[in-house]
Amino acid sequence: MKNTVVTFKEAKRDKIKLSMLTAYDYSTAKLMDQAGINAILVGDSLGMVVLGYKDTLQVTMEDMLHHTKAVARGVQNALVVSDMPFMSYQASVYDAVCNAGRLIKEGQANAVKLEGGSTFCPHIRAIVEASIPVMAHIGLTPQSVNAFGGFRVQGREMEEARKLIEEAKAVEAAGAFAVVLECIPARLAKLISESISIPTIGIGAGNGCDGQVLVYQDMLGVFTDFTPKFVKRFSDLGSQMKAAFQRYADEVGNGEFPAAEHSFEISDSIIEKLY
Ligand code: KIV
Ligand code: NA
Repeated sequence: MKNTVVTFKEAKRDKIKLSMLTAYDYSTAKLMDQAGINAILVGDSLGMVVLGYKDTLQVTMEDMLHHTKAVARGVQNALVVSDMPFMSYQASVYDAVCNAGRLIKEGQANAVKLEGGSTFCPHIRAIVEASIPVMAHIGLTPQSVNAFGGFRVQGREMEEARKLIEEAKAVEAAGAFAVVLECIPARLAKLISESISIPTIGIGAGNGCDGQVLVYQDMLGVFTDFTPKFVKRFSDLGSQMKAAFQRYADEVGNGEFPAAEHSFEISDSIIEKLY
């Protein structure tokens, strides 16, 4: 069955945990969809794990559209959420609505996600008024890496923790249907989850959240430049991929691949005449 914002609302009510993973292409999205993942996030983490940038700041609307379209074509049941990239919404509410609209209309996403709390509530409200569901994202918001002075856990101090609780309530009041909590202490994330009626989706925020999200290259061991503490390796596909690539190179090198079974026939009479 298709996951929708209603599924998210009911999951929170019924205390059913929501699973979300990132995907950036058709084949991977299709596998996740078939595995029963509730939501697929076309994250702007795309910039780092697919495009090789050092952070997410260079990701463009065109990048997001390109990959959102690919993911949407692979998905039947998961809710497709597309990230609004840096500077696609920050400058004005007008930008926010137009670019959110593009991710839905051209990208075929079901919802958008944007980083920020109360500062971006007017943006969230306006997008929601355009009938586009918004997932908010607070805590460690990677598009603010320069403002933060690096990637680190948020909300450990009293003032910061209080502010995060207020931000969560603010994005809920602005109409967000869910909120990502990134890199905040587990007990604070649990408190926030109990303080609002929309589902919290945690990444590095402990098991008191209403759902979880991971970057798929992290959880499969495919992206290994660095591994944050909150990542669990559900597989070591990276090593398996490398081993397969090596075997392929070897078999091409020694002529073992392709074998007859991977090749196409032609009749003896024709090939003999061609010689
Ligand atoms: O871009 C991304 O992958 C994200 C998740 C980590 C929440 O925003
Ligand atoms: Na993101």
